[in-house]
Amino acid sequence: MIYPFEKEVLVKQEDIESRIKVLGEWITNDYSGSEGILLLALLRGSFMFLSDLAKSIKLPVTVDFMSVSSYAGYETGGIVRIHAEHKTNIEGWDVILIDDIVDTGFTLESIIELLSTRKPKSLRTCVLLDKKSRREANVVMDYVGFTIPDEFVIGYGLDVDEHGRNLPYIASVDKEKYAEFLKKS
Ligand code: PRP
Repeated sequence: MIYPFEKEVLVKQEDIESRIKVLGEWITNDYSGSEGILLLALLRGSFMFLSDLAKSIKLPVTVDFMSVSSYAGYETGGIVRIHAEHKTNIEGWDVILIDDIVDTGFTLESIIELLSTRKPKSLRTCVLLDKKSRREANVVMDYVGFTIPDEFVIGYGLDVDEHGRNLPYIASVDKEKYAEFLKKS
């Protein structure tokens, strides 16, 4: 344990590693005839996932990023802010949109809607964590790592107010301990 407000490990490091290998194999099979795969990751939460996923895909890929946010504290707001756009012109690319977690689904829904207007050859989604019980938007996820319960989680890129992104596993947050941590810091 690194952070005093970690409650429980929900997804172990070795389980993340083995699942990402499987996702990589699926993507490698599905895109074997592709003329151009663009992994488009939503920062900041997906930086670790993208890094490991890209290594598990045994095909040429290009990588790009968008910076978006929707959470404030524990709550995802439904208002998706774009802080930085991708650099690649995605027209004609097989785009795989990468995100760390889908909660309400509003982020993915709005980014899919936006990217669709930019004429990619195809557009699929790959997410590490699916917090299914919280879903409000109607989004299709093509590649999913794990379905998790309705717990606030940190680690492997995910944060609570920017704390916890460097954990190599996914842990739930003890909200009382986090409140104590905030008082002390
Ligand atoms: C998180 C996460 C997803 C989104 C999911 O991003 O990375 O993009 O929220 O929530 P939703 O399904 O309810 O829209 P966040 O706003 O925390 O930014 P971050 O990636 O920089 O941590």
